[in-house]
Amino acid sequence: MNYKIINMKVFGDERGKLVSLESKKNIPFDIKRVYYIFDTLPQEERGKHAHKNLEQIIVAMDGSCKFVLDDGKEKKEIWLNRPDVGLYIGKNMWREMNHFSYGCKLMVLASEYYDEKEYIRNYDEFLRSLK
Ligand code: TYD
Repeated sequence: MNYKIINMKVFGDERGKLVSLESKKNIPFDIKRVYYIFDTLPQEERGKHAHKNLEQIIVAMDGSCKFVLDDGKEKKEIWLNRPDVGLYIGKNMWREMNHFSYGCKLMVLASEYYDEKEYIRNYDEFLRSLK
């Protein structure tokens, strides 16, 4: 499965904690876009799509949520609940996000600019694209 959990190095002292994200160092691609998701509600689901040509790293900056990843063969559930853990998702992975805690904030680093044309938003089309 084309995903990875990345444990970020934390610079912590008595003042608090700091994590630094750098392209091609602890982030395995050039970061072209950052977006974030906030004001989340527990009953809502997001995602339900795959990307033909996009790599992403998602960090729960606050709160928690569940990711369900699917490569067309198997599914994997991952809880994101720490600001020092990143979930890397590569190409051709169907993802759904649910069980958002109230006010969960997700930051997403992306390897490409936004391009609706490279989304696959239909699950059957996703399965066909893998053949
Ligand atoms: P959507 O893909 O539904 O979000 P999620 O992956 O969380 O389910 O995106 C919501 C809206 O935001 C949709 O109209 C597309 C738009 N959007 C952008 O314009 N730029 C972006 O970088 C992203 C990620 C989404």
